[in-house]
Amino acid sequence: FDYQLLTGKHVVITAGPTREAIDPVRYITNKSSGKMGFALAEAAAEAGARVTLIAGPVNLPTPSRVDRVDVSRAVDMFDACMKTVDEGCDVFIATAAVADYRPTVTADHKIKKSTEEIHLTLVKNPDIVASVAEHDKRPFTVGFAAETRDVVAYAQAKLVNKKLDMIATNDVSGSNVGFNSDNNALTVIWPGGHKVLPLASKAQIAKQLIELIAIRYKD
Ligand code: PMT
Repeated sequence: FDYQLLTGKHVVITAGPTREAIDPVRYITNKSSGKMGFALAEAAAEAGARVTLIAGPVNLPTPSRVDRVDVSRAVDMFDACMKTVDEGCDVFIATAAVADYRPTVTADHKIKKSTEEIHLTLVKNPDIVASVAEHDKRPFTVGFAAETRDVVAYAQAKLVNKKLDMIATNDVSGSNVGFNSDNNALTVIWPGGHKVLPLASKAQIAKQLIELIAIRYKD
């Protein structure tokens, strides 16, 4: 591992889930622990980068030499990311499992139990990584894709649709990789190439992915 790969570069990483409030005591979220994004922040810092880690609600210590911004809702993560991209950064890595939808309204008070059925209406959240890729000061933009089937085909579509420079895809149908596991396995795809990173600890996968990103970024 080259400890000067990203010296002088500013790397922004999103991690963890988001939390979309239904009422003051209930929310919609997902199984992301933040482990993958935090491992990437640590690896990027070890590679000499200045690192900003924009984290959803997770229970993890901040890696050393990493600036952490805590957020809860997808719209807060969006604002925090846009602010750092406005200020200028070199590489953006979207590891967070951002909620695609949020409740259209958040009730001011705890919703009371009443009828047999109640309906929750959801509205789409802004797509953070796609907005970063369209920014005037576009950094080298890397997305993740969490899929349970047709993993590579769906990831390739996300690479194109979100105008990304690279996408790291994981199969999240099992419990030995992906969400909350200490291990992961990725297929990393960019226009014109791909690389398989076989099952390893998230710390090891993070170092390999940071190396790949640094090489592609310098090209
Ligand atoms: O946190 P861990 O427990 O360690 O688990 C790691 C992980 C499985 C969450 C991680 O490896 C991963 O796959 N992260 C992406 C999860 C995801 O939401 O994937 P997606 O296919 O739904 O989204 C595609 C990409 O768009 C992602 O880069 C995501 O951050 C981004 N996105 C999605 C929606 C949205 N509104 N804004 C976004 O930026």
